[in-house]
Amino acid sequence: MTELIRLESISKDYGVFHALKDINLSVHGGAVTCVLGDNGAGKSTLIKILAGLHPATSGTVYVDDETVRFKSPRDALDAGIATVYQDLAVVGQMSVWRNFFLGQELTGRFGGLREDEMRTITDEQLREMGIELRNVDVPVASLSGGQRQVVAIARAIYFGARVLILDEPTAALGVKQSGMVLRFIAAARDRGIGVILITHNPHHAYLVGDHFILLNLGEQVMDIPRDQVTLEELTLQMAGGGELDSLSHELQR
Ligand SMILES: Nc1ncnc2c1ncn2[C@@H]1O[C@H](COP(=O)(O)OP(=O)(O)OP(=O)(O)O)[C@@H](O)[C@H]1O
Ligand SMILES: [Mg+2]
Repeated sequence: MTELIRLESISKDYGVFHALKDINLSVHGGAVTCVLGDNGAGKSTLIKILAGLHPATSGTVYVDDETVRFKSPRDALDAGIATVYQDLAVVGQMSVWRNFFLGQELTGRFGGLREDEMRTITDEQLREMGIELRNVDVPVASLSGGQRQVVAIARAIYFGARVLILDEPTAALGVKQSGMVLRFIAAARDRGIGVILITHNPHHAYLVGDHFILLNLGEQVMDIPRDQVTLEELTLQMAGGGELDSLSHELQR
């Protein structure tokens, strides 16, 4: 497996607050790396560094073994890193095809939009990934949460992402829609993309994950490959060891 990205000793301070301390992480092509942790653990902060939204306070980011310093999300995109954010950066009232090409529109010689071509490509790409929409002119707001995530993933794949970062893609979804999104994550992995999956849900992580990183208050408290951990251990770790146990005693009558 090729190493696409490596983070070495990454820290991030917001003023006097240490949001991340000394994080190390490798992302390999064709593998899913899960970043787990409770609210406020630093998961989104970590991916914002990788997405070029803000710089690390210290530490080094390598892409293909070379040091990089992203100054903007454009730099990260140019390096093949696509990010689907927690609160999905899609424009609800815009059509599916406009969203699909947002920021990367096909234009003609005189600057006009090649609308029909973009419609056709969007339709083909979504079909190829098994998403059947009535038509690609419907507003994104009319899609289900799961479909929106899947459209965002299909878009990243189409535009040539080598690394795909997903921040809590299943957080607001029921069982069936979560299953659909997890299937697409596996499909991206099978195409050789290096996936970073951020989640609260150990079950979802364990279904597709090859490697697990657990953050707690900005510190990396676990870093383990799939074959060295069971779902039960992962769940227990995420619950902070015995915390859920004592909670369960407290809440029983
Ligand atoms: N721009 C910011 N300025 C100051 N503090 C911030 C900023 N962004 C995040 N933080 C703080 O850093 C910590 C980590 O936040 P982060 O959003 O990375 O957590 P998270 O693991 O993604 O949580 P969640 O599961 O709730 O999405 C939190 O305590 C948060 O309040
Ligand atoms: Mg977050």
